[in-house]
Amino acid sequence: MYYPDEIVEEVRQRNDIVDVISSYVRLNKKGSNYFGLCPFHNEKTGSFSVTPSKQMFYCFGCHVGGNVISFVQKYENMTFQEAVQSLADRAGIQLPEAEDAGARERENRRAQLLAINKEAGKYYYAQLRSEAGKRGMEYFKGRGLSDETMQRFGLGFARSSKDETFRYLRSKGFSDELLRESRLFNFRENSGMTDKFWNRVIFPIMDSGHRIIGFGGRVMGEGEPKYLNSPETPIFDKSRNLYGLNIAKSTKAKNIIICEGYMDVISLHQAGFDQAVASLGTAFTSGHANLIARYARENVRQGEMTRYKDILLCYDSDGAGVDAAKRALSILRQAGLVAKVINMRPYKDPDEFIKNEGADEFQKRINDAENGFMYEIRMLESEYDIKDPTGKSKFITDVATRLLGFEDPVERDNYIGHIAYKYDVAKESLDEVVRKQAIAGTGVSIAPKPMATRNEESINDASRLPQGRLLSWICEKPEIYGIVKQYISPDDFADPLYRKVANILFGQLEAAAPNPADIISMFDDEEDQRQIAEAFHQNVGNLESIEMQKSALKDLMINIKRLSITRTDREDNSFDTIKKLRKELEDLQKASIDISSIE
Ligand code: GTP
Ligand code: MN
Repeated sequence: MYYPDEIVEEVRQRNDIVDVISSYVRLNKKGSNYFGLCPFHNEKTGSFSVTPSKQMFYCFGCHVGGNVISFVQKYENMTFQEAVQSLADRAGIQLPEAEDAGARERENRRAQLLAINKEAGKYYYAQLRSEAGKRGMEYFKGRGLSDETMQRFGLGFARSSKDETFRYLRSKGFSDELLRESRLFNFRENSGMTDKFWNRVIFPIMDSGHRIIGFGGRVMGEGEPKYLNSPETPIFDKSRNLYGLNIAKSTKAKNIIICEGYMDVISLHQAGFDQAVASLGTAFTSGHANLIARYARENVRQGEMTRYKDILLCYDSDGAGVDAAKRALSILRQAGLVAKVINMRPYKDPDEFIKNEGADEFQKRINDAENGFMYEIRMLESEYDIKDPTGKSKFITDVATRLLGFEDPVERDNYIGHIAYKYDVAKESLDEVVRKQAIAGTGVSIAPKPMATRNEESINDASRLPQGRLLSWICEKPEIYGIVKQYISPDDFADPLYRKVANILFGQLEAAAPNPADIISMFDDEEDQRQIAEAFHQNVGNLESIEMQKSALKDLMINIKRLSITRTDREDNSFDTIKKLRKELEDLQKASIDISSIE
């Protein structure tokens, strides 16, 4: 069912967010906003805010946020359509009835694809245990896997064949078109469909409901590629599934271990660590982080207390593993999670570690896991020559920008104390550097340095907050829009999502008034909605005097213009554009901003 945007907007407007949320959460009015205990994470102080003027909610603790529709969706665990329906009922709005043949057809196809994967999984499973699968069985035994482990993970074997699996599945009545869509086969015009997996041991990949959604296949011994994975299909979204989660979700352990590979997960489980999962041959994504956040939330049934499990990263100890760990830490952080890092040295990965040292030693490494932030700082240290006084100052400044990522002042202060002690700097000096960086509006991100690749996502990390702050400010005080637009255009927002938001918001202001809650409805992705809500809840700060407001606004715009130049430099390479932006920056720096008129 697809509802037209106007209907969605009407439903949203006819359901006041304070009214709706009040029926779920006890809210207290503070100033122009309402606060309460966040229903999405456990807390004793109310970080959950509802802003009637923006018709949005946002939790400063766990960073969930959105409009009234996303709230109902999240709270009631509904789809978007279900939430719209329920709110329409509440407001007495009649929704248009229309048969959505498309959605049913898609659902049917998904079911068929799952059935294909299930049959294929059964087929590979049987092969491993047959005469033809002897080599595969020897391979797994050689890697120390017990029959029970092989069974628990549904391991299998694909023997050398051109198209046996294909023909088998076709005999089960699946159409060629669907079999092609399952991506378990290669298709060429001249040779037709051939098996993708052959002469490999097979790791079925399951979603958290134990349904097979894809496969990984490993060569036995040397060969390229070492692992072959099913490509993404309508049922296999790599960034929203974790290998092993179907088992790990019911673990009794007080932590979750995230590692890199299939074999790491399997050996950890065999050694009794049934809390291990791995991302699927892809980098860790925000989708994974959200999944982890959901499962890390452990309901301890002592009263109403909710506890979070520790999140432990257990990546390879080589350079690539360290880079991957830093990146994962930053992504987890954005989802509001702080992870720890397990040191596996001198071994390469948990599989090797367990083989050589056993489970008890691994448990010790779990107990000794290093705080993720301190790990990042330790890794950062190697990028500077801290024996040299200048090198050390630069390092400390860099550390300070990262410390700004902690919004909770107590938490930040704890880290400042820790780092001052570890690196032998006076705490007061470090405090001072941190404050300076805060005023300059730099950093404000705990994200590691952008990777060498021109990855748009990593550029965003460091720049998201100031951009969000400007969006939020314009919304709170639409009067400043007249000034902002003289210097900043939507294109100046370096973050691709915030650029889209700025475009819409500036458009709304040209036409009438800002409507942030409506902007949220224009984005389907939950993560996008969260980030937009986060932007609109950026604290503009308590700037009492006009002087302070003027200078803060100017600094913010300068900061954003600089980020815009950096982005253009990276992505565009057009010299003219950069020249134009540099000129705009210069003008902005010289400008005297007059906001007294709007007071
Ligand atoms: P073993 O050698 O079997 O112990 O595997 P490993 O887990 O130690 O291997 P490695 O650290 O090389 O790889 C970790 C994970 O990255 C694997 O489990 C795969 O998911 C993925 N991976 C490794 N090699 C390849 C490859 O050649 N292609 C693809 N697509 N993924 C790979
Ligand atoms: Mn390995």
